[in-house]
Amino acid sequence: MDKLEKAMQKARQERAMSAGLSPLASSPFAAQGSLLQSGRALPVINSKDVVTLTEEQLDRSRIVAHHTRSAEADVFRLLRTQILQIMAREKYRTLAITSADYGDGKSTIALNLAISIAMDLKQTVLLADIDLRKPNLHEFLGIEPEAGLSDYLLHDTPLPECLLRLSFERLTILPAGKPIERSSETLGLPKMAALAHEMKTRYPDRLIIYDMPPVLAQDDPLAFIPHVDAVLMVVREGKSKTADVTRCLDILSNANVIGTVLNEAF
Ligand SMILES: Nc1ncnc2c1ncn2[C@@H]1O[C@H](COP(=O)(O)OP(=O)(O)OP(=O)(O)O)[C@@H](O)[C@H]1O
Ligand SMILES: [Mg+2]
Repeated sequence: MDKLEKAMQKARQERAMSAGLSPLASSPFAAQGSLLQSGRALPVINSKDVVTLTEEQLDRSRIVAHHTRSAEADVFRLLRTQILQIMAREKYRTLAITSADYGDGKSTIALNLAISIAMDLKQTVLLADIDLRKPNLHEFLGIEPEAGLSDYLLHDTPLPECLLRLSFERLTILPAGKPIERSSETLGLPKMAALAHEMKTRYPDRLIIYDMPPVLAQDDPLAFIPHVDAVLMVVREGKSKTADVTRCLDILSNANVIGTVLNEAF
């Protein structure tokens, strides 16, 4: 084992222990291929439609949390339980998922976790894509939403017109909307603060998950952190560098990082 690997392992163990979360010991997913969505024309969907995810789409997006008997889904059930326990104990309502860099698996983990939580009968979940510069959560659903968060914030599109219902009960998606350049300024708008507050306080049994941009690539997470109760860091095995993860945690030192998930790809 070389030095870097050792350091990674140590950081992994320390973070997992301090978080009270088990790292994902093995990949919950098959590692081959990629989303293969970008560049493909996706059907345009609005809030009146229910987004039904086919098995093919679920597989392509590496969504496994809905499986009833599978080790991969069990990993997300365990993560769900650990997170729900922390959130209930601390009375947290909002969780942001981030990582050091692009492509670490934030959206994959966020969507699987959201589905897993929504399948726990007591919980409703709203999953919001807040990467306003490079939004892509909708690609996991195989659709192009007509409107999203940036349209609400900048063009006064009513919020209900931005929300997507999924064929998974109790799960609502707020897509990011049309990509915009001045994303951190937009996330810093009073209208965003009011929305974050409203989403958090309106329904007591609703948990909000924010799929955030990467910490080292954009200042957006810092602009948004004041609106979230807790942060989950994704570390991608074989990709995330120890120095970057450490830098990331430094940058998030004022945030409430409740744990780290090791996303492993073979
Ligand atoms: N454990 C895994 N095994 C194999 N492939 C994975 C795994 N996790 C994620 N992927 C794939 O890696 C790619 C990047 O994942 P994802 O889009 O979830 O990352 P991200 O951190 O949200 O990226 P971005 O910062 O660009 O939004 C996707 O093609 C996804 O299917
Ligand atoms: Mg993403």
